[in-house]
Amino acid sequence: MCGIIGIVSNKPVSINIISSLKRLEYRGYDSAGLATLSKNEINEKKCSGRVEELEKILFKSPSDGNIGIGHVRWATHGIPNVTNAHPHSSEIVSVVHNGIIENSDEIKKDLEKKGKKFKSQTDTEVITLLITEALANHNPLDSVFKTLKKLKGSFAVGILFKNHKDIIIGARRGSPLAVGYSNKENYLGSDSYALKSMTNKISYLDDGDVCILTKDNVEFYDSNKKKINKKVHLLSDDKGISDKGDYKNFMSKEIFEQHVTAKNCIKEYVDNLKEDINIFNFPIKPSNINKITLIGCGTAYHSCLTAKYWFEELTKVDVETDIASEFRYRNLKFNENNLYIFVSQSGETADTAAALDICKKNKVKTCSIVNVVESTIARNSDWVLPIHAGPEIGVASTKAFLGQMIVLFILALKISKSRSEIANDLYIKKIKNLKDLPAKIKETLKVEHNVQLMAKEFLNAKGSMFLGRGSSYPIALEGALKLKELSYLHAEGYPAGEMKHGPLALIEEGLPVIVIAPKDKYFEKTLSNMQEVIARGGKILFITNNLKELINENIRFGLRVPVLDDSLSPILLTIPLQLLAYHVALLKNCDIDKPRNLAKSVTVE
Ligand code: AGP
Repeated sequence: MCGIIGIVSNKPVSINIISSLKRLEYRGYDSAGLATLSKNEINEKKCSGRVEELEKILFKSPSDGNIGIGHVRWATHGIPNVTNAHPHSSEIVSVVHNGIIENSDEIKKDLEKKGKKFKSQTDTEVITLLITEALANHNPLDSVFKTLKKLKGSFAVGILFKNHKDIIIGARRGSPLAVGYSNKENYLGSDSYALKSMTNKISYLDDGDVCILTKDNVEFYDSNKKKINKKVHLLSDDKGISDKGDYKNFMSKEIFEQHVTAKNCIKEYVDNLKEDINIFNFPIKPSNINKITLIGCGTAYHSCLTAKYWFEELTKVDVETDIASEFRYRNLKFNENNLYIFVSQSGETADTAAALDICKKNKVKTCSIVNVVESTIARNSDWVLPIHAGPEIGVASTKAFLGQMIVLFILALKISKSRSEIANDLYIKKIKNLKDLPAKIKETLKVEHNVQLMAKEFLNAKGSMFLGRGSSYPIALEGALKLKELSYLHAEGYPAGEMKHGPLALIEEGLPVIVIAPKDKYFEKTLSNMQEVIARGGKILFITNNLKELINENIRFGLRVPVLDDSLSPILLTIPLQLLAYHVALLKNCDIDKPRNLAKSVTVE
């Protein structure tokens, strides 16, 4: 998953390419590059590492040209270095690419037999060489179509041509691509977000589409090379997106604004006057819903797992959860009365988008819970429930996870009410408790100082375990994921009751074990599992909402979150774990907003 930008203008483009690449860094940040066309030469500049490095290179040696393409890379084929950074150019063509060319090895062998030489280890270079070859007998558009026919995989490309100094061609198969419009300037971008600082007028390419941009015009073609028209969408404002204010980094801002995130989200769905939930237009009448399948990846999948407990508690609907990369290859029995819910912050995650496509092909009803309402997943689903969290920049998801959980809880509550499976007074009580959630989140954030002390316990640790039961189990998984992502420390999330079936072998003197134990129906059981860990020398870090249990000589460290409705405690228990991962990473001097090897939006399979 990489980021693509292309600009055709009547003025120099390199500065705007750099600023768009900075916006695109959430898609990949292990190398960057750009190519402009000036004095009829392709002028390529590349670096390993961040866009900042590319900016420094440009500062020393500016790139002229009113037309150019740029790229941020997240390595798939070939290590992240300057040679493998995009663009990949021949004498006459320069290509930026997102996605994977699955038959690149085959094509490479064929081209090598013809005497062609490859400079990089990437799959992208085959595109450059195929188009270069085709240009000997065809115009740029035909050369691109001819090349696309030979490629297998899921990808998006942006292409610059030395001898056609006014055009950029873009093509989409699988990976998203957008076009932006402005006065005497048009743009190609991996997504609308990359283009938002330059325009709010956007069109999206569909699978198989190709576009040709000049500064005054954009033409679109479908996969059969038939000219087509595209709808122009007007984008909403960014609302102070790139401002981290007084915070050290975006992640801390995003953690500490979660009470506002919760408030904004709840405001959108809860009717203050009527103590009711404003969710209508279900794609399936709630009383007819036979089964709900919740699908996502990573943190989004953890919100699905948490929601499973809510749907089971509040409704009589059968619920299943699946990881999108598994769902998409399962031999599923689809049913028109099943509702398939896709959860994704970015709305661009390739596995989740592919899983959604499978549902569409099987003509079943889909709902997406997304943060980015202009995203592919939102646009492709029958029903969209936005989380209203505002842009999340830190690669490790925090406020979006919270928003996903809130929307899923609200949805479970609404479905329960619509099916008459919850008593009215309980429904109203749950809504009231939900309205108290932002204040409780604010109060929970005060645990930071204690979490800072707890974080020190991890500095010399070989690894760690996160344990929970019931709805605290997905929170344990999420806590472990956050710690792994941010601090590069090994962390395992486990259902506390499963420890004795194997993982107990990992416990040794001093191993940090985080026990998440709210005072719910699992509390006593979790304490028993904790004793098993204590008996083997594990260092217990205890997170609860029950003050009494904190006082225990075997507990190295205890933290308390406020008490609220039992159903909502997973939301509050998440916060100390986010803070823990954050502070361990700070102590270890890790890059908080851009952890190594990761990207914000995973647009490859
Ligand atoms: C979260 O901290 C991760 N970076 C990652 O697991 C993420 O949640 C996952 O890639 C899914 O992303 P999405 O919500 O944008 O679909």
